[in-house]
Amino acid sequence: MATLLSAAARRLEGKVALITGGARGIGEYTARLFSKHGAKLVIADVQDDLGLSVCKDLSDSSSYVHCDVTKEKDVENAVNTAVSKYGKLDIMFNNAGIIDGPASSIADSEKSVFEKVIGVNLVGSFLGTKYAARVMIPRGKGSIISTASVSGIMGGVGTCAYICSKHGVIGLMKNAAVDLGRYGIRVNCVSPYAVPTPMTRTFLKMDDEGIAELYSNLKGTALAAQDIAEAVLYLGSEESKYVSGHNLVVDGGYSVLNAGLSNY
Ligand SMILES: NC(=O)c1ccc[n+]([C@@H]2O[C@H](COP(=O)([O-])OP(=O)(O)OC[C@H]3O[C@@H](n4cnc5c(N)ncnc54)[C@H](O)[C@@H]3O)[C@@H](O)[C@H]2O)c1
Repeated sequence: MATLLSAAARRLEGKVALITGGARGIGEYTARLFSKHGAKLVIADVQDDLGLSVCKDLSDSSSYVHCDVTKEKDVENAVNTAVSKYGKLDIMFNNAGIIDGPASSIADSEKSVFEKVIGVNLVGSFLGTKYAARVMIPRGKGSIISTASVSGIMGGVGTCAYICSKHGVIGLMKNAAVDLGRYGIRVNCVSPYAVPTPMTRTFLKMDDEGIAELYSNLKGTALAAQDIAEAVLYLGSEESKYVSGHNLVVDGGYSVLNAGLSNY
């Protein structure tokens, strides 16, 4: 069971959060951090055994629900589970995602693969935002966070489908922030650079130390899933109470560097 922080240090005490793709990787780390900070959790994923074992490891205030984020009924059910089990939904974390690969030219890209990636990454975030909004609007508050990527603000750092999906997630977030701001609901994104998780281990052939193989702008440290969880914690907590429509990029400055013109 996750150890709780002292009452004063808990930043999500009394909050209810739903995390899609919470069975492993960034979602799992976020679930563990949220739990430490006192949140009640629903983990929604398609990998039932992994999701159930994460919940078993957390406090009694966590539940698992099978949810394929491409299926509207599953997403509605996941949101309803949070409300029926814990009475409300304060934080929706649209994090489930996939990447196709290896990267190839658009000339060789399959339409079916493009649609599949858009389906999970973008349509999944749309559905999560939609159903979270439905239960948050009557309460006049809530925080919706989606995992985008540096691939949401740049080209050439992923596959065509993945980059399009993540640009879409940022567009979805901006429009939803404007739409839902009038109800007191904040909507933001977190955008990681490459983090060692099962996804990148497959796509980038990256092991736990493998980040060293990739170009990193910020020297002397390496990006880990915990760093993304900390950014999501900030966006979910009251510390960010006036932050909305923001894409919090966690990339050590990678996306602002023009490698061709840099003097350093
Ligand atoms: N790891 C990185 O370097 C990196 C960088 C930028 C953005 N991201 C994004 O972070 C998010 C999490 O990625 P990760 O690296 O932890 O990957 P991961 O593969 O370790 O975890 C993704 C989780 O999403 C779940 N999932 C996949 N399809 C689903 C579906 N249809 N319905 C519900 N759940 C589904 C998986 O079962 C898994 O538990 C993704 O949105 C990814 O695009 C990752």
